[in-house]
Amino acid sequence: MSTFQDYLAALADRVTVALNDLLPCPTGPEKHLISAMRYAALGPGKRLRPYLLIESGRLVDADEQALLHAACAVECMHAYSLVHDDLPCMDDDDLRRGRPTVHREYDEVTAVLVGDALQSQAFELLADPETHASSAVRAELVLRLARASGPRGMVGGQMIDMAIKTGEVEDITIITRCQRMKTGSLISFCVEAGPVIAGADGDVRLALEGFAHDLGLCYQIVDDLLDARGDDRRTGKRIGKDADQGKATFVSILGVEGARDRAIRLADQAKAHLDPFGDRAGGLHEVIDHILARQS
Ligand code: IPE
Ligand code: IPE
Ligand code: MG
Ligand code: MG
Ligand code: MG
Repeated sequence: MSTFQDYLAALADRVTVALNDLLPCPTGPEKHLISAMRYAALGPGKRLRPYLLIESGRLVDADEQALLHAACAVECMHAYSLVHDDLPCMDDDDLRRGRPTVHREYDEVTAVLVGDALQSQAFELLADPETHASSAVRAELVLRLARASGPRGMVGGQMIDMAIKTGEVEDITIITRCQRMKTGSLISFCVEAGPVIAGADGDVRLALEGFAHDLGLCYQIVDDLLDARGDDRRTGKRIGKDADQGKATFVSILGVEGARDRAIRLADQAKAHLDPFGDRAGGLHEVIDHILARQS
């Protein structure tokens, strides 16, 4: 295993340990819900959003404890989005992170409530004084996560995704908007959190926002490429479903090569935004290459 992969794995473990401590314990008559929340959030995900949040926060010397808590919050939000995305009324998937999806392991009612509870948990973590001493900083983190996950962010993107899936939309402009909203907006939150925590200035924020804008779209195109050409033993989720459903994606419109070229171009653009940070952005450069090469 390369040094970078060791570094990524160590950071992912640190986030999983912190999440394990921060999530409630399964006790009381609601313990079934809490066990299912833990199943969803602590499963073997890549933790790439926490990595982006912590690594970009370190560029601005943000407090480590605050970064770790914000990273756990975004992972809860992401885990909720996956639990609902897998429901029969959405993508109807049985496998996630190499294990049965929450509605298969438990049931649909539990999966809906797990998503609701993980979303609340994300905001609770950001609003907790243990995350940051300043109430203004906490309020800004909450506001930004609400915007990133709401109707003009992840959830709005998921709504457009449903229209694309039923063939109502085949326009690349709208597909681009969908990808940026459903996946890009949470990735943008990840790079905004560190500057908010550190009180860093406008130029730094702009550079990181440009980076996230390109990386977010790149991330979802790679996901769609894996759906078309990946191996379910490595992705830990069903593949081929976009094509089976006749869903328009960058891959169906540009072809595998065209989509790959677009992902590479976006990755190069994302790197260019990091120029002002010089060598200090090495960890973000490496994760871009990792995202392009990923098979899981
Ligand atoms: C899957 O995200 C859904 C997308 C938005 C592309 P990841 O590929 O980051 O999933 P995990 O967290 O590693 O399972
Ligand atoms: C999901 O996109 C994006 C979310 C906001 C959850 P996909 O539906 O393509 O993600 P996978 O392939 O199921 O992980
Ligand atoms: Mg989906
Ligand atoms: Mg899905
Ligand atoms: Mg997918």
